[in-house]
Amino acid sequence: MGHTMSPAILIIDDEPGIRQALASILEDEKYHVHTAEDAVAGMEILNREKTDVVFLDVLLPKLGGLEALEHIRGSWPELEVVMISGHANIDMAVRAVKGGAFDFLEKPLSLDKVLTVCRNALAIGNLREENRRLQKNVSLAQRELIGDSAAINKVRALVEQAAASDARILITGENGTGKEVAARAIHLRSARADRPFVEVNCAAMPETLIESELFGHEKGAFTDAVSSRKGRFEIARGGTLFLDEIGDMSLSAQAKVLRVIQEQKMERVGGEKTIDTDVRIVAATNKNLEEACARGRFRQDLYFRLNVIPIHIPPLRERPGDIPLLLCHFLKNMETEIKLENDALELLASHDWPGNVRELRNLAERIAVMHSGGSINRKELMGLLNKSGGLTAGKTRSPALPGVTALPDTLLEQNFSDAKESFEKRYLEFQISKNNGIISRTAEAIGIYPSNLHAKLKKYGIAAQSIKREP
Ligand SMILES: Nc1ncnc2c1ncn2[C@@H]1O[C@H](COP(=O)(O)OP(=O)(O)OP(=O)(O)O)[C@@H](O)[C@H]1O
Ligand SMILES: [Mg+2]
Repeated sequence: MGHTMSPAILIIDDEPGIRQALASILEDEKYHVHTAEDAVAGMEILNREKTDVVFLDVLLPKLGGLEALEHIRGSWPELEVVMISGHANIDMAVRAVKGGAFDFLEKPLSLDKVLTVCRNALAIGNLREENRRLQKNVSLAQRELIGDSAAINKVRALVEQAAASDARILITGENGTGKEVAARAIHLRSARADRPFVEVNCAAMPETLIESELFGHEKGAFTDAVSSRKGRFEIARGGTLFLDEIGDMSLSAQAKVLRVIQEQKMERVGGEKTIDTDVRIVAATNKNLEEACARGRFRQDLYFRLNVIPIHIPPLRERPGDIPLLLCHFLKNMETEIKLENDALELLASHDWPGNVRELRNLAERIAVMHSGGSINRKELMGLLNKSGGLTAGKTRSPALPGVTALPDTLLEQNFSDAKESFEKRYLEFQISKNNGIISRTAEAIGIYPSNLHAKLKKYGIAAQSIKREP
């Protein structure tokens, strides 16, 4: 999903003549061009500017082209790099291509060749990005709700019914009950299935960014808006917009979303053009929105708009009948075949599952990793369940991690990669604010490359506006 209107190119070459020639060829094609005379300056530009393709000279002062290529591939893996080489060092260019550069150009540059290589690099970049997006969707997405209890059958019927219409849907349920699975299942069964499913986590989004995240912005709309960018409403055009954790959205953002729903159109932040929206909205929350409305934390008018088709997913403890099928499904996904003895199943049925299906999935992971042997009995299972915290007293809390506060209680229930990410995000927020928002200083303090830090901040949406650069 390219966010800028026109592709952005960076040229890194120490010869001013080459920089100028390339820049003018590319600017004529309406590309957005930056230039740098060495790789260090180039990477500073990459830190600031969203870039699609880099032209990189193989012979450079300070940091050589091959070494720079390695840095760039490490910090900006989504970039395509085209090497520029003189006839004398073609072998270096070839080595660069083996090391992950997209292609190389030989000096003197030919106009046609420059344009063809650039277009191809952009096309490949787009394909790769699309591919990453699809893969992410496939690997993250459990497509169907598994289970055969009366409760989950009812949910499935509602999903079916909801998919057939274009009405807004509000999915409620405790953490880990399968709200996201249901939202994706609705999308996949709807007429919009071949259009994007775009998720917005309203709780994770800093208040200052949510508007530009949802509606996009024009270049210059605020200090850090260096290029224009599509918002999630626009990216989801024709498809489904999943507003997750809607109960945590600020009142001001609620007002804006309500307006877009009412008018079916919007403007980007700082933009004048009115854009028609065409999205089916599916919202989800683990909060009681009626209560939130009564307390003035949630707009009643928005609640009514969202809650056209309500789907409630009951907690796992109210549908213990789903446990065997779910467990079997998770174990099968992990290519583990373990039979549960009857007393083990009884134990699972009486557990109260504060983390719901997610907790069950994590238990399956533990079983797959720690248990070798064809069957598992109550006593063995007890050992594994206890590690998940929450069996003995029903509501046992996960123990606090030493020295770290304010991480979600559910951290220890998450799978490894989610937990790692929660921690990394919290850690970076803390370090960035401790270092007054200065990237270079923070990077030095915690011992990572500034470019790498920058990429991580971007990934976690850590408030870019508050990030000041050192004067
Ligand atoms: N009925 C189900 N069948 C198969 N997998 C399920 C089911 N319900 C939940 N899961 C799995 O459990 C995990 C949690 O589900 P999901 O993310 O949809 O929950 P959620 O309700 O959105 O939770 P949260 O409120 O914490 O975001 C996921 O790994 C999901 O694939
Ligand atoms: Mg969810």
